[in-house]
Amino acid sequence: MSQPGNILVTSALPYANGDIHIGHLVEYLQTDFWVRFQKMIGRDCIYICADDTHGTPIMIRAQKEGIQPEELIAASHKRHLDDFNEFQIKFDHFSSTNSEENRELCEEIFLKMEENNHISSKKISQSYCADCKMFLPDRFVKGQCPKCKAEDQYGDSCDSCGATYSPTDMKNASCTICNAPPVLKESEHVFFQLDHFRSFLKEWVHEHTPSEVANKLDEWLAEELRDWDISRDAPYFGFSIPGHEGKFFYVWVDAPIGYISSSKEWCKKNNRNFEDYWKNDNSEIYHFIGKDIVYFHTLFWPAMLKNAGYKTPNQVFVHGFLTVNGEKMSKSKGTFINARTYLNHLDPMFLRYYYGCKLNSSLADVDLNFDDFISRVNSDLIGKITNLASRGASMLGKNFSGEIKGLDEDGLEILDFAVKQGDIIKKHYLARDFNKAVIGIRDIAEKANRYFDEKQPWKLLKTNPDETQKILGVIINTFRKMAIYLKPILPEYVAQVEKLFNESDYQWQDAQSNLTDHNINRYEHLAKRVDEKQVNALMEETKAEAMANTEEQKDQENHEPLEAEINIDDLFKADLRVAKIIEAEEIKEASKLLRLTVDLGFEKRNIIAGIKQAYKAEDLVGRLTVIVANLKPRKMKFGTSEGMVLAAGPGGKELFILSPDSGAKPGQRIQ
Ligand code: MSP
Ligand code: ZN
Repeated sequence: MSQPGNILVTSALPYANGDIHIGHLVEYLQTDFWVRFQKMIGRDCIYICADDTHGTPIMIRAQKEGIQPEELIAASHKRHLDDFNEFQIKFDHFSSTNSEENRELCEEIFLKMEENNHISSKKISQSYCADCKMFLPDRFVKGQCPKCKAEDQYGDSCDSCGATYSPTDMKNASCTICNAPPVLKESEHVFFQLDHFRSFLKEWVHEHTPSEVANKLDEWLAEELRDWDISRDAPYFGFSIPGHEGKFFYVWVDAPIGYISSSKEWCKKNNRNFEDYWKNDNSEIYHFIGKDIVYFHTLFWPAMLKNAGYKTPNQVFVHGFLTVNGEKMSKSKGTFINARTYLNHLDPMFLRYYYGCKLNSSLADVDLNFDDFISRVNSDLIGKITNLASRGASMLGKNFSGEIKGLDEDGLEILDFAVKQGDIIKKHYLARDFNKAVIGIRDIAEKANRYFDEKQPWKLLKTNPDETQKILGVIINTFRKMAIYLKPILPEYVAQVEKLFNESDYQWQDAQSNLTDHNINRYEHLAKRVDEKQVNALMEETKAEAMANTEEQKDQENHEPLEAEINIDDLFKADLRVAKIIEAEEIKEASKLLRLTVDLGFEKRNIIAGIKQAYKAEDLVGRLTVIVANLKPRKMKFGTSEGMVLAAGPGGKELFILSPDSGAKPGQRIQ
């Protein structure tokens, strides 16, 4: 049976090849606020998400780490969930696109495209790395920008002049994995004929996306839409396309389908019918996404759904990007902050509150300014809001055993105001204008603080305890209402407030009533102030992480490629022996060579070694080292060399000869 009015809400699926950072949190937090609010007003609402696990970057990263992509995505899954949990982001289900459910749905949706004649095939030429034996996505090619000639630019766009182009337009192009120059190679690709849905989309976008977005899309929809290439060649970490051997679904096909498969899993677990969400006009589906992924969600996705007989989303909510202190997040400035790094220094509730103060329904970028962050938390959340509870509840506890009795007449107006504000705040939550909701709450706090200061209950206590108790009753009831309104943004903080009041599970309408003849518990700290030092430490750690990463990257980039595999017999063809250097002299005429005499115990050898820049001859005499003893003698300009000394490093000054551990004897074989 259908259950009308169910709401399904999603955030975009985070890529499994990176950690969650505070930019991502702009999205996951606003979605969390909204879903928690819907639940509080009694809507049947679920928050669905998953990791986006397929594609070339993930495959390459796993290769680099020497693990299977499945291991990589399992590890990310755990890290992502740990971060989300600590930030109190509560998914009803968080799955993975690499699931059987998702594979089945991808196949089903693709077969529908074929069935309805929206699929075409054609050969295209793309950059291919013959060494890596794979086609290279644009981001895996680097070279010179065809427009401004800046070096070292990615294959899709130039960071220097902003031009966009294809990797084949670049000069000096190279594969970012192995540095080889890519070649052009032809291959057959599968296309989804998006233009077949143009007239549908023309109408659709105006009803289901923000008007700023719809207007922009109008420009696209005015002209014929290009076919969408939905296939990728092997090797690719993803799902095979049925009936198209060796072809895989492009990650952007199976990623949004992950919204359906993840909710399907949730339905199974919860005994619900997933068609009530995805094939029912009464359900409501909302996607929260960032402005960078609008086309996928407002053109391809609704067309895919429409064609397969699924419900298209009611609304695609689009938000802007996070800037930090007014600028793009930057690793070197210490502002590309990972969720985990933040957690090492600051309480997650502060970021929740701060984003609450800033987030709204527009597409504008959102700035995290750390001075503002400190002041919002310390002066508003702690100074205005929490202080009401700490002062009011402490006094009530100390002097009246925590008993709320009557309410002060003069204060009724404040309580009334707080109830009325509730309706306004509710509207702001519904409209995703969280910043206005927080202002609405702050207004109540300001009024209550003024009342508190005017009434001076700490003075009145001695002369009129009854009246004092009533004033405190107003204060504490006002605080309770504010807490209820704050609950979508600060769930754990409010869970403590519920405990303070001997209550549980606040719903929105609980703010309508006042507590009288009610005992509250002892006041325990709800929140601590932020110290600027914590913020500085966070930025320092972020900078240090960035430095460590570039060092590591450099090491990786500089490593010499491994030779082809050999078997053990090949290895033992080289007869490696411990040798003692008994004489060493410089060859004056050569810049790099030393002449050595080494003792193998059973015979002596002359070796000419290219280690002059790294060692002084006299320092080598008496040392044990390792030589290749069966290397065919080589005639050189300065004599014959009867073996080779083993050394590590790139050469020149950076060469390190091997020495056996103490105890080894000349002539012993290395095995
Ligand atoms: N995997 C895709 C989404 C697939 S949805 C079927 C993706 N992943 S992402 O990890 O790059 O981004 C996830 C979401 O976080 C996106 O909506 C993106 O816009 C948002 N943000 C990522 N960085 C952001 C900021 N710096 N600021 C605000 N939102 C940002 O895209
Ligand atoms: Zn390559």
